Amino acid sequence: MLDRLTLPPLPTLQGEHVILRGPRGSDVDDRLRHPIDPEEEDGYGSSWRREWDGRRYHTREHLTASQRSPDPGAYTWAVEYAGRCIGRAGLGVDADQHCATYTVGLFAADLRGQGLGREVTRLVLAWAFDVLGVHRVQLEVLASNTRAIRCYLACGFRQEGVRREAQLYPDGWKDFIVMGLLHSEHEPQAEIAG
Ligand SMILES: CC(C)(COP(=O)(O)OP(=O)(O)OC[C@H]1O[C@@H](n2cnc3c(N)ncnc32)[C@H](O)[C@@H]1OP(=O)(O)O)[C@@H](O)C(=O)NCCC(=O)NCCS
Repeated sequence: MLDRLTLPPLPTLQGEHVILRGPRGSDVDDRLRHPIDPEEEDGYGSSWRREWDGRRYHTREHLTASQRSPDPGAYTWAVEYAGRCIGRAGLGVDADQHCATYTVGLFAADLRGQGLGREVTRLVLAWAFDVLGVHRVQLEVLASNTRAIRCYLACGFRQEGVRREAQLYPDGWKDFIVMGLLHSEHEPQAEIAG
């Protein structure tokens, strides 16, 4: 009952349109094809605005370093679509508490809003609950990020609370919504490969 979760190696997860897999060198080239999108970066929090000076951050060196995953509980997938990397998904697992924190982002802006985020999220949730065996998956999202919130609600997440004025952005303090999904609430999907 109080055992730690066993952490397997990063699996490859095959969806109808996307593949979630480990990083490749070509993913950095795919990322560099897309310019920094402040709206996207703001979705991950405001700290990038302190690192970003117009030259650093969106570089081969930074992106290559960010592909390394030092912690065995920090799962990071490249999202592959039509043979190219279009984004990333991550699951930070707390093996003691049997819970995980989910992150996702598609840097290919023209592919957002077409259902790929829901597909990615459902693949990760199915693996987290049905294979890894977590009890709970949680996330935080900027309260103004309507598209992401709708994606998470569609995948079963429930709003649990608001972290009021949690981060400072150029135009002021912003709220973050806390969302969570329990194993008992998760609807099983068709079997996943990987
Ligand atoms: C968040 C993200 C991963 C979602 O993936 P996606 O492929 O765009 O999402 P989907 O198309 O699967 O679902 C989007 C939902 O928002 C709706 N939507 C689409 N475009 C929208 C828009 N411009 N504004 C508001 N809602 C929108 C869709 O109808 C869908 O809702 P529904 O399921 O109720 O129909 C993606 O938009 C993204 O990478 N955004 C930038 C980075 C980011 O914000 N990451 C999340 C940080 S918490």
